[in-house]
Amino acid sequence: MNINIVPLQTHGDERGSLVSLEETNNIPFAIKRVYYMYDTKKDTRRGFHAHKKLKQLVVALKGSCRFVLDNGIERVEVVLDNPAQGLLLDSLIWREMYDFSEDCVLMVLADSHYDESDYIRNYEEFAKLVGEI
Ligand code: TYD
Repeated sequence: MNINIVPLQTHGDERGSLVSLEETNNIPFAIKRVYYMYDTKKDTRRGFHAHKKLKQLVVALKGSCRFVLDNGIERVEVVLDNPAQGLLLDSLIWREMYDFSEDCVLMVLADSHYDESDYIRNYEEFAKLVGEI
């Protein structure tokens, strides 16, 4: 399974680090929505869905968390712990997130507005759909 971790260019000097995200430049889609998760309680697992169309880029701005990614055939684990790296999540990838550090701030850039009808929240339904493609 192809895991797409995008290195984000860091403009660093003695003052610190700065990362700039520009749609269609270092982000391979038009950014329609940004959301972030923080204060995630210990032992929380979230996600448990795939998207029919949505593409996203996830950046751990602070702290760390783990992702399980599943394309219906293979499951892989990815640790996100670097604000200078983005994890590209294509459509039709089942994702679960867990092991959030107490300080974790997880930012997500998305190519569409929030649309509940784009979610597949049932794993059996997801596996059936990708099996048919
Ligand atoms: P939810 O889909 O449950 O998050 P996760 O899949 O990570 O467990 O989203 C939590 C709530 O936030 C839910 O009521 C929907 C809402 N929400 C929005 O209103 N806009 C958004 O962009 C997102 C991602 C969620």
